[in-house]
Parts: sequence; C-alpha cells; structure tokens
Amino acid sequence: RIVYINGEYINEHDAKVSIFDRGFLFADAVYEVTAVINGKLVDNEGHMARLTRSCHELQLTLPIKVEEIARIQNELIRLNQITEGGVYLQLTRGSDGDREFGFPEDAQPTLVMFTQSRSLLDSQKAKEGLKVMTIEDIRWHRRDIKTTQLLASALAKQAAHDQGFDDAWLTENGYITEGSSNNAYIVTADDTVVTRPLSNDILHGITRAALMKLAEEKQIKVEERLFTPEEAMSAKEAFISSATTFVYPVVKINDKVISDGKPGPMANRLRDIYIELAV
Ligand code: PDD
Repeated sequence: RIVYINGEYINEHDAKVSIFDRGFLFADAVYEVTAVINGKLVDNEGHMARLTRSCHELQLTLPIKVEEIARIQNELIRLNQITEGGVYLQLTRGSDGDREFGFPEDAQPTLVMFTQSRSLLDSQKAKEGLKVMTIEDIRWHRRDIKTTQLLASALAKQAAHDQGFDDAWLTENGYITEGSSNNAYIVTADDTVVTRPLSNDILHGITRAALMKLAEEKQIKVEERLFTPEEAMSAKEAFISSATTFVYPVVKINDKVISDGKPGPMANRLRDIYIELAV
C-alpha cells in the first residue's frame, strides 16, 4: 500500500513518525475517515469542514488547504486502486524533539493519510443487524472534536466484544450519548426517528447530518432529544450511522431483542436512500 506522509507518497513500511510526536505521546491529533464508493469520496466536504473545526478548537494549523487534502485523498485512491473502503487522515501537532505538555513553538505538524479497502455496500452486518451493549461513557467532555484520544471507545468496544456483542452504546447520566464509533438512533412506535441533539457530548457525525437532511426531504419525522437505554430497549427499531458503516440496524440491546431480531424498515430505508445518494 502507498501511504501519504508530509508531502510524500511512499510505501507503508517506509513511513515513519518520531517517537516524540505529540500524536503518539499525548493523542494531540485530529482525524477523519471518509468512505469511498466506486472510487469516489463520500460526503468529503463535510469531513473537511469538521476537520477544519476540530483544528480550530485545538489551535492546530492545517499545513495545507482542504482542497489540497482532497487531491491527496483522491491520489491515494488512484495509487491503491480503491473502489470501496475509506481514506483515513490524521494531523498531529508534531514535535520539537522532547516531551513537554505545553505546545512547542516550532513543531511541524505531521499529516498522514492511508487507504483501507473493505466492502461497504454488501455488508453482512447490514443484513443481520448489530447486537449492542450499553456501558458507561467515560470519555472526556469535548467529544465534538474528532481527536485520536480513542482509548475509552476502544475499551467500550472491546468490553462489548468480550461479552458477545458487536458494539457498545455509551451512557451518561442515564441517557445514551452515542455508539463507540458511531451515532445512535431509535425509532418510536409512531415511526419517529429519535437521536441525541448536537452538543459537546457527541461527535457531530457527517453521516448523521446527511441522514437528517434526507429524512427531512422524505418527510420522515425526526426528534432530536435524549433517550434512555430503557426507551431504546423497548423501541420499535434502533440503528447506528458512521462513515464506515453508513446505516447499520441494531437488533439487540443488552438482553432485549429489537424489532423481532431483524433489521427494521426505517433502518433499511435510510441505508438505501443514503447509499443511493452516495454512489
Ligand atoms: N467514527 N461518533 C463517534 C464517536 C465516532 O467515532 C464516529 C465516526 C461517529 C460517526 O461520524 P461520521 O458519520 O462522520 O463517520 C460518531 C469513525 C468512522 C472512526 O472512528 O472510525
């Protein structure tokens, strides 16, 4: 695989980052994952807008313009002949060759990008649906910034795997925040899609934004409000969204089977119309 690092396209085995890099020492870094379908980036303008915002919130300076980033993403897709999968991008504050908490004055940022090939359209999980487990959200208070500080999410996902679930839904003060790496939704008895409103408590999903727009166009009712694990467990349907899954139905939450254990019509419909628009 050819990867991008600080202006160069090189073999993945030759790409090296300093052990003093603040991305490595402090998770002082932001990232984005953009889906690729038919060799084309999906919703990349949204991802670039969020990247710009994440950088702003952390006083990180993008070393190149977002248009140039998109050009590099597309070049990697071409070089690695990716038809379906994603492009991962990470920007760190770099280093000045030592370990200090405060921002170094003369650090050069590190920008890396690589492609991942995986099937997105023909997905077993989309057909089967996910089993999710609820677990306490122990992440920091700025989940709206897409940083590489992902240990809490990794621990939650692993705890779910260890107990035979596919993923974790995180809870705080008795309410679901979001999935470990996706946004969470339920569908009520009257076919209203419910999802948590945007705030610093969750990542502002680019797929979420696209789904909200699609729902409005298709006159699907949406309520942005908090919901509890109990409400989710007795919901008509549940589902998640992200750039790596698009929409996946949820068919089990903790010990409770949702929508007869089969992907529900709302999740299937939103997945279909999102994909139709993306391809
Ligand atoms: N995760 N919430 C969290 C905590 C996430 O990590 C993600 C994305 C989302 C969905 O955002 P989007 O629709 O923009 O992908 C919500 C990416 C895919 C990841 O970490 O791999």
